[in-house]
Amino acid sequence: MQEVSADAPNRRMKDPECIAFLQWALPRLQLRWPGYRKVRRQVCKRVDRRMRALGLGSVEAYRARLDANPEEWAVLDDLTRITVSRFFRERDVFTYLCETVLPELHALAAPQPIRVWSAGCGGGEEAYTLAIAAHQQRIPVRILGTDWDERQLVRAHEARYSTGSLKELPAQWRASAFEQQGEELLLLRELRANVELLRQDIRRNMPAGPFHLILCRYLAFTYFDGPLQRKVAEGLLSRTVRNGFVALGKHESWPVDVSGLVETQPGLRVYGDRRPDRG
Ligand SMILES: C[S@@+](CC[C@H](N)C(=O)[O-])C[C@H]1O[C@@H](n2cnc3c(N)ncnc32)[C@H](O)[C@@H]1O
Repeated sequence: MQEVSADAPNRRMKDPECIAFLQWALPRLQLRWPGYRKVRRQVCKRVDRRMRALGLGSVEAYRARLDANPEEWAVLDDLTRITVSRFFRERDVFTYLCETVLPELHALAAPQPIRVWSAGCGGGEEAYTLAIAAHQQRIPVRILGTDWDERQLVRAHEARYSTGSLKELPAQWRASAFEQQGEELLLLRELRANVELLRQDIRRNMPAGPFHLILCRYLAFTYFDGPLQRKVAEGLLSRTVRNGFVALGKHESWPVDVSGLVETQPGLRVYGDRRPDRG
């Protein structure tokens, strides 16, 4: 059994210790270290806090705890979630989605609304960006946002944001879509009406679909390992309508061995369905 050091609550895990720990632990959760390299401090802080809450004085003691208590892996899994997001994140991608993809999908879906799924929707930033864009163009949409983190979904329901998370949104959109509430901005109720939110772990469940547009940005294709990325990609593909689109983050890419989608604008990582007619 590991000893609990007397000064356990005061000792902080050093960066190299945390890196070694994450390189050991992440693959066991089907996650990949390179995705976490730049954002590791967020996770290291949480792991450090967890170790201290358990009264463990070293990372070795925490590893032993994980070995002895398999249920601790679920706790660690929760600690690995990265929640950074903002409206209109990656301006060129959203300009393309709003100005080209939405009108194209409108032509495909009309008179029905375009069905959109924001997978890993965080605090709703991505889903609401599209809701605002569609509203401005009078394009009917139904947007589903899913996330596994309950706190993110609470934020999404509240739809209240700091100015920082709106900094990439065109100023005129900001002025017309939000009302100032103290230091924060509240998204107008009518823009929330077409967005539904659901708690779901994309590794285990996905909504039935199908969808005209799926956004799966900075979730599976940054943090998940290869086999899990492929599983998610196959799930997304099977939920995309013919001639629909899947958007990833600009720093991500679609697994090469899952065929059927083709990047429609070089470098934007927006992929169009180009599967042969399925009859
Ligand atoms: C880095 S944020 C990206 C948010 C948004 N897609 C964007 O690009 O701005 C990743 C989001 O995925 C969520 N997430 C992480 N693991 C998940 C899982 N297994 N299933 C569903 N959502 C998950 C996190 O809670 C977080 O809100």
